[in-house]
Amino acid sequence: MTDVLIDTDLAGAMAETAAAVDETLGRELPEPDGPAAQLYEAMRYGALGGGKRLRGFLVRTGARLAGADDGGALRVAAAIEMVHAYSLVHDDLPAMDDDDMRRGKPSCHVAFDEATAILAGDALLTRAFEVLADEETHPSPAIRIELVRALAEAAGGLGMVGGQMIDLSAQHEAVDFELIAVLERMKTGALIAFGCEAGAVLGDAPAALRAMLRAYGYDVGLAFQIVDDLLDVTGEEAVLGKKVGKDAAAGKATFVAALGVEGARREARSLVDRAVARLDGFGPDADALRGFGDYVLQRRS
Ligand code: IPE
Ligand code: IPE
Ligand code: MG
Ligand code: MG
Ligand code: MG
Repeated sequence: MTDVLIDTDLAGAMAETAAAVDETLGRELPEPDGPAAQLYEAMRYGALGGGKRLRGFLVRTGARLAGADDGGALRVAAAIEMVHAYSLVHDDLPAMDDDDMRRGKPSCHVAFDEATAILAGDALLTRAFEVLADEETHPSPAIRIELVRALAEAAGGLGMVGGQMIDLSAQHEAVDFELIAVLERMKTGALIAFGCEAGAVLGDAPAALRAMLRAYGYDVGLAFQIVDDLLDVTGEEAVLGKKVGKDAAAGKATFVAALGVEGARREARSLVDRAVARLDGFGPDADALRGFGDYVLQRRS
């Protein structure tokens, strides 16, 4: 494996955020007690113990740029990671991608059972909105409602869930390149774009800063999914923590299927370049987002 050459400051900041997000998740998820303990265990299994917490990192980084309170940012980070974890638990189900390994462990439906995994996903999704709506996240009801609205839009039918529908219906179909870009922006880019702009919402930042963070996230989010497609071909199972070679076997409509490995790499590079160019008006405060662009291209897991 080639070492990933990312800035040590960025690597340290990402590790620090991952630990803080894990701690917040641990606190905000129900303890496995009482008659529904199996559900709470499955929620914790799907959300804790693994995961790079990149969406949480983007929330916190955007919040810093917008001057928002870090305690609120960590709660929003935990909420987006709950939604992301739910999307992975459901994505792995036999009715969807039928993957039995996730984050280096048996997928949730393998460790528990399908019904429990479906319910754990449902409960992670709803708990995320409960966390956002709590006044501990922000004293202003208007800001909390905007966070709830924007996450619902990113995660729902016009965002992640809609993208998952197109992903499934495009399997084994000849789909044009534009539709692949749409589905990948929806299934993955929408949540990442929300992660980037959420800090601006929390900080009640000017509309221009929010729009800039969103535009950055929109392109980095697509690049992130293109690299996920690439890693399914070029990555290693032990490093990725999930099976490789699944997309071609399942006839998935991916950037690699449409453009080949080199073409997909070029596309990811040009999206990251465009995203980073949007940060030109910012000084060193935006360096973490610049570095994150390189990280997305170089990551091995
Ligand atoms: C995997 O996301 C699924 C995609 C949307 C590409 P991540 O690579 O961020 O997964 P974790 O959270 O680190 O496991
Ligand atoms: C996942 O895309 C997107 C989600 C919304 C979960 P993939 O199906 O490619 O993600 P992996 O490769 O299973 O992590
Ligand atoms: Mg999938
Ligand atoms: Mg999958
Ligand atoms: Mg994938």
